[in-house]
Order: sequence, then C-alpha cells, then structure tokens
Amino acid sequence: MSNNTFKIALIQLHVTDDKEKNLNNAREKVLLASKNGAKVVVLPECFNSPYGTNFFPQYAEYIPDGESVKALKDIAKTAGVYLIAGSIPEKEASSDKFYNTSTVYNPQGELIAKHRKVHLFDIDIPGKIRFQESEILSPGNQVTHFETEYGKIGVGICYDIRFPELAMIAARKGCIAMIYPGAFNMTTGPLHWELLQRARAIDNQIYVAACSPARDTTASYHAWGHSTLVSPNGEVIATTEHEPAIVYGEIDTGYLKEVRQGIPTYSQRRFDIYKDVSEGF
Ligand SMILES: *[C@@H]1O[C@H](CO)[C@@H](O)[C@H](O)[C@H]1NC(C)=O
Ligand SMILES: *[C@@H]1O[C@H](CO)[C@@H](O)[C@H](O)[C@H]1NC(C)=O
Repeated sequence: MSNNTFKIALIQLHVTDDKEKNLNNAREKVLLASKNGAKVVVLPECFNSPYGTNFFPQYAEYIPDGESVKALKDIAKTAGVYLIAGSIPEKEASSDKFYNTSTVYNPQGELIAKHRKVHLFDIDIPGKIRFQESEILSPGNQVTHFETEYGKIGVGICYDIRFPELAMIAARKGCIAMIYPGAFNMTTGPLHWELLQRARAIDNQIYVAACSPARDTTASYHAWGHSTLVSPNGEVIATTEHEPAIVYGEIDTGYLKEVRQGIPTYSQRRFDIYKDVSEGF
C-alpha cells in the first residue's frame, strides 16, 4: 500500500463511570485495530468518563500531566498508530477552567496536537431542555490540524461539526480529512448525525469521520452511536449501529483528487466575490 491509502478505525467504545476500566478497554480496542491494519485510530467523545458536564469536576485532568494522557501515549506507541483520542474533560492548572479536549498522539507516543472544543453547546428551552456547557466549560480558541505521512488531518468535537467554517478552513489548509469525536443524542442523531458528516464532506471534498460512544441505556445520556466514515464524494463508506464496535474504512487521497477533478468546486471558488474563510489562519 502506498502513502496514498491507509486504514482508519473508529472505536465505538462502551463507556462506564470507571476511568481505569475505560482506559483499559480503549487500550485493548486500539491494539486490536492496529493488529487489523489501522494506521489512524479514533476514540469517541468523552471516552474516559460519563457524558455530562456535571461529571466534569470529578473526572477532569491536567494535560499533559494527567493519567489519561500518560496512558494514551503508551497506547499509541504500543499500537504504533496515530491516535485521535476522542475527548476528555481537561482542567487547566493556571485558571481552574475546564475544557472539552481532544488529544492526538503519533506512533512514537508523542502528544502532537490538542483541540479544545471551540463551539460550546448551550441550549435552554423553558420547560423542555436545558444543557449549558458554558456554565462549566470554556471554549477553545484555535483550529487544530496535525501532520501525518498520509496528509494533514483536522479535528473538531461534536457540536463543532455544525459549523461549516471549521471544516472548510481545514480543507483550504490542505487537510484530507476532518475527524469529529462526538455524541449526538436520540433526537439529533437520526436527524443530523450522518447528514452533517456528508454535508461537510461534499462542501469540502474531504473525508469526514465521526466517532461516538456506544449507547448505554442504563446511563443518563443515550448516545446515538453510528460511528461513520464518509468519502469526499459524500458516500457513507463504513458505519455501524449503536452497539460497541470498531468501524474500519480506507482513506485514499488518490480518490480525493479524482473527486476534486470530477467536480472542481475545490478549485473554482470565487474569492473575488466572497471571502475565503481560511484567510488569516
Ligand atoms: C463535551 O461536550 C459534551 C456536550 O457536547 C458534554 O456533555 C461532555 O461532557 C463534554 N465532554 C468532555 C470530555 O469534555
Ligand atoms: C437531544 O438534544 C436536542 C437538542 O438539544 C433536544 O432538543 C432534544 O430534546 C434531545 N433529545 C433527547 C432524547 O434528549
């Protein structure tokens, strides 16, 4: 296989309230994915702790000094893969602030990127639903891309996928894929989860992957699951239902080029009449 093509694995992990168990489970699945040929492995949002801002203070860790980062470095190195380690609640020592943070490791086990969720999810419909991430969390202020021998890859977290600009900036900056650890619920999952991935993929002619925790009906939050890989042409390449699973798919930069030649939107933008959102990054 040339550097044009590589296998990606999305680990739809069963997440419990036991951090050590979650990390051990993640290790086992990442090693398995690597054995099956994956070069890039993705974990879900909030994979080391229960989902919900009320769990933050108890589960949050410093990056890079916390136990999860230490474990993840070792997992990436042992497996010899790029590891996009979903997200974990991060505590910042200097400010006492919390962030929803994705860390990325190279096959040598080095922490090479960190994405703090940029768009926080705040919703308040009186008498219906209230979910205010910003009461606990602070937003990140950066777009995140990292280099691999296959090409550059961008990272967003969950709600970030609803904002096309982040994916478009990544594509304009040369990324071949956007990866979103996420956890949509039982309403927005069926409505938007796949549609958003396909939209971001076609908008930008890049690969898009989203990795969810498995659904746990005994937990307070029921995730939609359906971890999915979408091609630059908007096709669902690989997906699953809501049970724990590893979703495998191929990313082929040769195919990406073909798609861009076939429908040249990538190169035929009219920045003379509208702005290039990636300008300045
Ligand atoms: C990240 O955001 C979600 C909501 O989008 C929140 O419920 C969750 O607790 C956060 N997770 C982490 C690990 O920061
Ligand atoms: C899922 O989230 C949406 C958006 O916040 C909300 O309107 C809906 O009620 C939630 N659904 C469930 C099943 O919790």
